[in-house]
Amino acid sequence: MKFFIDTANLDQIREAQDLGVLDGVTTNPSLMAKEGIKGEENIKNHYVKICEIVDGDVSAEVISTDYEGMIKEGEILAALHPQIVVKVPVIKDGIKAIKYLSSKGIRTNCTLIFSPGQALLAAKAGATYVSPFIGRLDDTSTDGIDLIYRIVEMFGTYGFETQVLAASIRHTMHIIQCVEAGADVATCPLSAILGLLNHPLTDSGLKTFLEDYKKVNG
Ligand code: E4P
Repeated sequence: MKFFIDTANLDQIREAQDLGVLDGVTTNPSLMAKEGIKGEENIKNHYVKICEIVDGDVSAEVISTDYEGMIKEGEILAALHPQIVVKVPVIKDGIKAIKYLSSKGIRTNCTLIFSPGQALLAAKAGATYVSPFIGRLDDTSTDGIDLIYRIVEMFGTYGFETQVLAASIRHTMHIIQCVEAGADVATCPLSAILGLLNHPLTDSGLKTFLEDYKKVNG
């Protein structure tokens, strides 16, 4: 399973890249705003900076909601860097835009997926990735991980090449559940990735090893 980091924060992206296990980055307009990135040129420059840090796909989201606007923005974003994947919302014009962009060889990530039907339309339109939002479903008392199982099974049954990119991951256990569900990618906060390291027996075991070494070596 591939690991993407879900942030526009360059320090966090560098830290994840330095760990040596990072496969890509996802951003969205809220994450860009959180970092104070504003204005068309600054936003584009920021995407390029991210691409220069990581060796993998970088999702850059369109802000238009009409077909013409989305394809124009998508072409501009894709031209910024070969690693850019154009992120498009799963609305009617978004599906049409994904169909157009994929026919031009531009890779897409269909976002804000909350049902298998939405994932089906995105896959049929040729999306490279679909992004089901686990945490936001959990927030509504609906099992987000169950959606990952259902989409993975559907894509397997019909042989869709679209990859399931589990998004809105809130904690480390979500990552493990995505692995069990067969997600192709999990996009996570850095804290959730680092949480995979945590185990008290590792901490106590390492402490004992070092104490025993000191006992005989001084
Ligand atoms: C997906 O690509 C989104 O950027 C993200 O995972 C949304 O997560 P949130 O629900 O924590 O905002």
